[in-house]
Amino acid sequence: MARIRRLPLQVRNKIAAGEVILRPASVVKELVENAIDARAKRIEIEVVRGGKAKILVNDDGIGMGRDDAEIAIERYTTSKIEDVGDIEKIKTLGFRGEALASIALVSRFELETSNGEEGTRLKADAGKVLGIFESQRPRGTRIKVSDLFYNLPARLKFLKSDEWELRLIVDTVRRYALMYPQIGFYLSSPNRVLLNVPVTKGYEERIRQVFSKRLVEHLLGFDEAIGSIRLFGYISRPDFFEKHKLKFIYVNSRPVRYPRVYRAILDTYNNPKLSPAFLINITVPPMLVDVNIHPAKEEVKFKDERYIIDLLVQAVKKRLTHRIVSGAESAADFIPSTSTDAGQRFVQESIISYQGSGTSSQPPEDAGEFWQLHNTYIFAQTKSGFVIVDQHVAHERILFEAIMMGRGQSQRLLFPITLELSPEEYRVYKKTKKLLEELGVDFKEFSSRTVVIDGLPGDFQVDRQEIADLFREIDGLGNMMREKAELAKVLACKGAIKAGQKLSPLEMATLIDRLFACENPFTCPHGRPIVLKFTLEELGHRFGRV
Ligand SMILES: Nc1ncnc2c1ncn2[C@@H]1O[C@H](COP(=O)(O)OP(=O)(O)OP(=O)(O)O)[C@@H](O)[C@H]1O
Ligand SMILES: [Mg+2]
Repeated sequence: MARIRRLPLQVRNKIAAGEVILRPASVVKELVENAIDARAKRIEIEVVRGGKAKILVNDDGIGMGRDDAEIAIERYTTSKIEDVGDIEKIKTLGFRGEALASIALVSRFELETSNGEEGTRLKADAGKVLGIFESQRPRGTRIKVSDLFYNLPARLKFLKSDEWELRLIVDTVRRYALMYPQIGFYLSSPNRVLLNVPVTKGYEERIRQVFSKRLVEHLLGFDEAIGSIRLFGYISRPDFFEKHKLKFIYVNSRPVRYPRVYRAILDTYNNPKLSPAFLINITVPPMLVDVNIHPAKEEVKFKDERYIIDLLVQAVKKRLTHRIVSGAESAADFIPSTSTDAGQRFVQESIISYQGSGTSSQPPEDAGEFWQLHNTYIFAQTKSGFVIVDQHVAHERILFEAIMMGRGQSQRLLFPITLELSPEEYRVYKKTKKLLEELGVDFKEFSSRTVVIDGLPGDFQVDRQEIADLFREIDGLGNMMREKAELAKVLACKGAIKAGQKLSPLEMATLIDRLFACENPFTCPHGRPIVLKFTLEELGHRFGRV
């Protein structure tokens, strides 16, 4: 690494300055970043009392010579950038030359470092250097921060319990450990090893080390390169509905908070109730991203944000749908015989009637593979275990996608439904008539507030009462009733087969078939799970077989 220099004034003025050391976890973050920038292969962190009493970070990176060690804790001294132009080309995690100065200022600070040729030890209290000595140590750097905020009682009071602060430290170290599998991380507190992950080959193995094998099994990897932009990482399979902590976004391997990217990922999954797991690294040429927004360097902004977020959404969608259409992975593998061309068939065919009266799909040959439980859930055996499908939400998803994609064209009703609308219902009807018609509901208007519905989208299963409920629910949407997707959700919910309705084997097979032809067969439009999956391994485990 280059020698440490004082940044010229015009560069300092361009850097987002401000307080970054708010709590022990901020110290750990800055010291770990420095160790990563110094190309460490192993980083050891020890904390006492949630980092309030002591934080020690030891690395085997390139270390510093004596001259560098002497000025490293001054403000605006860095080896990572030199001039204003460099702010546009940042490749390191640090660049402001402020972290060590800010830490030293609010603690008792000790730095011991060696570049392999000379070793140096420096002690400081509240930023004041107490002494600089020669020392013997292998190449690398060890920084000890004791009694954080001892000189700032107000700041000390603001900290939470030791346990809470410790948890934040664990979260911080995890974030870096996950993105740098080529580095070994070790984090301990007296008598407790909190994280111990040796160097490993890849991200998958690192996720397993940090979290669990089970979580890894629920992830799908993706890697897309578009020009100079690369998007890679892991996303959870859409049928994974468990609480977990894997929600990490990185830009050029820097852990960041990027609400817009976060939102875009959730939207791709149709906003499920439990958010999906993901670890995503977006790498772009440094000039296309601004990291100099906030002193904590945790916020970044792409210069062309929309474009990059669009690319990400496409990459995630592609990965999610690819596995369904190709049937290459476990979720779709249970549909007997006809599964792989299910998607295509669905497009070719018009809506299939569940009464068996209208056009009928070719049923899966082995329709007997399905069982209905309490007239509500469908059981199906899969290659590796079994799945349970909630029949109502499955149909809701099918109808929703059909309506939204214009495939739910109106079907003429044999017995049109005549409705005397209440003044309230009439108001809702007037407001939404046009949109509802676009979605496939055909109305004929008679005298005052009498309306006849003679066509409904697709294979809707509604009676008169449900139509009245439909207007009430639309009314409950408030302003959102002007949004097509929201109306489609209500329509799909009302039109879907209900829990408690008996289905024949053929109806079940058709429902499953159509479900897996959907773009997102795993969550209903309201975010509830549709399919629960169980493996033989899990069963074996429960029965004490394995
Ligand atoms: N663990 C380390 N190993 C080797 N050099 C280090 C280490 N920690 C700090 N340094 C050197 O000290 C300098 C100052 O570190 P400091 O963290 O204060 O600033 P920075 O990393 O350059 O920028 P930032 O304030 O954004 O973190 C670094 O530029 C680097 O040269
Ligand atoms: Mg730094």
